[in-house]
Amino acid sequence: MEATGMIFTELFEAIGYSPHIGQVRFHASDKRFKLLIAGARFGKSLAAAKDVLPHLIAGRSTGWLVGPTYGLAQPEFRYLTTDIRDRLGVEVVQQKAGGRDGYSRVLTSWGGELWCLSANRPEGLLGHEIDWLILCEAAHIPREAFERFLRARLSTRNGKLVIATTPRGFNWVHELYQLGTGDHEDWAAFRHATWDNPLIAPREIEAARATLPPETFDEQYGGAFTSNAGAVYREFEPALHVVPNLQAPEGAIIYRGIDPGFTNPTCCLWATVDHDGRLLVLREHYASRLTADLHAAAIRAIDGEYRDRGHPIGQAWIDPSSCGFQAELAREEVFTTNAANQVLAGIDVVRRLLRRRGDGTPGMRIDTRCHNLVREFEQYRWHEGARPGERVPRKQDDHALDALRYLCLELRRRVDWKEQGASW
Ligand SMILES: Nc1ncnc2c1ncn2[C@@H]1O[C@H](COP(=O)(O)OP(=O)(O)OP(=O)(O)O)[C@@H](O)[C@H]1O
Ligand SMILES: [Mg+2]
Repeated sequence: MEATGMIFTELFEAIGYSPHIGQVRFHASDKRFKLLIAGARFGKSLAAAKDVLPHLIAGRSTGWLVGPTYGLAQPEFRYLTTDIRDRLGVEVVQQKAGGRDGYSRVLTSWGGELWCLSANRPEGLLGHEIDWLILCEAAHIPREAFERFLRARLSTRNGKLVIATTPRGFNWVHELYQLGTGDHEDWAAFRHATWDNPLIAPREIEAARATLPPETFDEQYGGAFTSNAGAVYREFEPALHVVPNLQAPEGAIIYRGIDPGFTNPTCCLWATVDHDGRLLVLREHYASRLTADLHAAAIRAIDGEYRDRGHPIGQAWIDPSSCGFQAELAREEVFTTNAANQVLAGIDVVRRLLRRRGDGTPGMRIDTRCHNLVREFEQYRWHEGARPGERVPRKQDDHALDALRYLCLELRRRVDWKEQGASW
């Protein structure tokens, strides 16, 4: 990241680009495959173009911009050609071919090539090796065009891929997004809302919120993956809630929430409350098909790490319908207490904690290590087949979230989360 950071700082200065904070996070990742998922006007096209600029000026590299149509790859193409020709003063030859096979191409004097292409006729994309690829508005590109025609272009030269798009339901881009939010060595994913671009006037966003159906607003402005079944935690924004290296305040009591499973995973979360009454979710243990003694060993090991750092270990709240599992944990010296288990009330407490407070910061923060919790936040949906007026979440993607619900419902009894500066 340091090397990339250096190149970017000097280059960005030279072209007069000051990325906003969401764009900085995206540029800072040096993973080979990166997704930038964001609401309209966030600055996806601009950031994607700037991200590949070092490759374009580095030598005889070939890069493609591919959109669902030729026109939809044009913003990235314009950003790149303006930078290289007008800002960096590079002499280029520009070619354009119209018609069904339309493309634009820019050639640098040292043999660098930049192509702007359409995914409309993917057969035409075969037979080339490239060094980098931006898929512009990728969520509108058919899965087949990516998987059968585009992906392999990158293989021989160990090429780099940037996917920049507004989300569009749970399609193939969402699958790649999940890879990127996990701990994958090659993939990184970033998701942002339109309002993370400080240049966009809040009143524009409020006007859209007032007129659009919530699902559409969440997708087009919130940058969220949505479906008709609707996300339960609409307030969840990874860029806001998920932070690296979250630390418990000195001496703070560490609490745990546990959702047991065998075929489904067992999840244990470690959390505490900071001096402002904010919930900090610090760690997760998430594993399936293990016996209770193995879970207990994993839980004791993490408890031990906190104890060694001077944190008392508080209660562990667990699904009240799991007596057998509780007894097995107790035999291994992990003692648990039945949690309150009102689903909707619990969801309500979690949602309130996710919201921004008066100072713009949220009432809950989650450490980046809690991959599964973050993934479930993104995937948890209301049940479509529920009776009208009835709100029931789907019994899927809810293991870490159930553990979190137990923690939140129980801790709320100890902390008044409405009050600033509450302590426990
Ligand atoms: N860091 C920045 N500095 C200056 N202007 C920026 C920056 N980021 C974005 N913008 C401006 O915000 C607007 C949107 O940028 P861009 O076209 O990259 O967004 P987008 O997310 O691709 O939008 P769309 O959803 O319309 O494709 C443009 O006018 C762009 O110049
Ligand atoms: Mg764009």
